[in-house]
Amino acid sequence: MTTGTGTDISLAVKLLRNGGLVSIPTETVYGLAANALNEEAVTKIFEVKDRPFFDPLIVHIALFEQVFKYVESMPSWAEKLFQSFSPGPLTIVLKKKKIIPDIVTAGLETVGIRIPSHPMTLELLHELDFPLAAPSANPFGYVSPTNASHVREQLDGKIEYILDGGDCAVGIESTIVADDRGAPTILRLGGVSMEEIQHVVGKVNINTSGPTPQSPGMLVSHYAPRKKFVIGFPDNSIRAAFLGFKNYSEFIPKNNQQILSSTGDLREAARNVFRAMRDLDGLDVDIIFAEFVPDTGLGRAINDRLKRAAAGHES
Ligand code: TXA
Ligand code: MG
Repeated sequence: MTTGTGTDISLAVKLLRNGGLVSIPTETVYGLAANALNEEAVTKIFEVKDRPFFDPLIVHIALFEQVFKYVESMPSWAEKLFQSFSPGPLTIVLKKKKIIPDIVTAGLETVGIRIPSHPMTLELLHELDFPLAAPSANPFGYVSPTNASHVREQLDGKIEYILDGGDCAVGIESTIVADDRGAPTILRLGGVSMEEIQHVVGKVNINTSGPTPQSPGMLVSHYAPRKKFVIGFPDNSIRAAFLGFKNYSEFIPKNNQQILSSTGDLREAARNVFRAMRDLDGLDVDIIFAEFVPDTGLGRAINDRLKRAAAGHES
């Protein structure tokens, strides 16, 4: 069985209503979606991704008003962040109502809620009378997909449909913010920068490496290519690839290199980083070197992904 790919939103609606899995485009990365209120459908997400059941899923909705169907309470910082950055690359973790099945939240009392801004997925969500649980549409631990062919390469034949919404505009996952005794805490750096969040709610704590993997994007090794991936610069080995920020390395052939943004634009770099990792992972090389980008704005989230990609490959 091959999985259909296309732009048929009514087909996606039908398949999701029947408990099927549909890959959806979002502005961050492609998601693997199912009816969040249907436990059996949600279970299939974990099976297809080979994802551990301790890893909770994000619940996607169309409108801010709908959030109150799924959460018990809304601290004022959370409402401000929703108003400022949704629809957009932001997830807020709040105390859940019973209607959200435990499998979605891995038994946690909280649920991550997000309103994505991709127009196709927003239209899809408007047509549904249930929210969508959706992790990134990649096998657990691998690089996240930022276009429909990335999804097809890995999930073809395993899901019902891929809704093709083109290349993701942001390219890295949503920023996750949770409540820590009344104060907002960033659990995952992502498409809304720390500076933007602080501009709205003041100083926030960052806890992206807590002792318990509340957020597997927090697992030290994640988002990783299969090839050996290290932070550093190549020497003149022909079996090496390089992921650069603005400039190519002079030591290896250009064909073995990807540049994130020749003008040094961090938004462009974010848009390119997962595709670049994937393309380099497909080359006939033994090792991929990558350099950090400036650690500011979206650069922090990009560096976070590079670090986690490298973490599985330390010798
Ligand atoms: O941009 C995104 O957020 C994408 C698109 C598809 O929306 N989704 C995504 O999902 O990145 P996923 O499953 O790959 O990562 C979701 C992260 C996980 O690390 C999960 O642990 C965390 O969100 N998360 C979900 N619910 C949580 C909760 N109740 N408490 C703490 N972390 C939570
Ligand atoms: Mg993921």
